[in-house]
Amino acid sequence: MARTTTKRPAARKRNPPNPWLVLRRSKIHGRGVYARKDIPRGTRLIEYTGEVINNAEADRRYEDDKMSRHHTFLFILNDRWCVDAAVGGNIARFINHKCDPNCVAWIEGKRIWIDALTDIRQGEELGYEYEYDFDSTYTIEDLAFYGCRCGSPKCRGTIVDVPKRKWHMVRELRRRMRAGRRASTKRPERSSDR
Ligand SMILES: C[S@@+](CC[C@H](N)C(=O)[O-])C[C@H]1O[C@@H](n2cnc3c(N)ncnc32)[C@H](O)[C@@H]1O
Ligand SMILES: [Zn+2]
Repeated sequence: MARTTTKRPAARKRNPPNPWLVLRRSKIHGRGVYARKDIPRGTRLIEYTGEVINNAEADRRYEDDKMSRHHTFLFILNDRWCVDAAVGGNIARFINHKCDPNCVAWIEGKRIWIDALTDIRQGEELGYEYEYDFDSTYTIEDLAFYGCRCGSPKCRGTIVDVPKRKWHMVRELRRRMRAGRRASTKRPERSSDR
């Protein structure tokens, strides 16, 4: 009998699951990262891994103007470099932004670490401040493009780190969001209502 040589693809090496973190659907956005068990404040949870690229390359890969809603896995390190977790990223890339965060991201050179900022209960969604830079030319619409849905009473309505002197923009953004929510939950008018 002829022998066939079946070339099997090498088994993909999987990283062991992170002891603290688990991935699930998120009410904030897409998928999010949750506490697998109670986490004490100060615990080092995970490194935010990915490809280190310069900012020009990041602009080439992701053009905000071409997105209807902002979505990337970029983490800015400084004015020259960032990490693109779309390449070689781990579960850390799914941690969403929170305006009232329970985690914090530390930059050490070209590496990024996510630590627990508070005690975190099992099942709680993790989030850190993305601190997107505020640009002095930003309008309310720009802030809405980077809209935040963290749901916290402290939510400023945008992932952008708005300086206190521009807080009037946050108030206006939140007013518009409330009005939008009211309009979308309003009962549709029936002919018998007229
Ligand atoms: C690194 S990803 C986080 C994972 C994301 N949930 C997913 O499933 O791909 C970053 C993107 O998630 C979205 N995102 C993160 N936090 C958010 C928040 N608080 N409100 C709205 N969108 C958020 C934004 O689109 C952002 O560009
Ligand atoms: Zn928020």
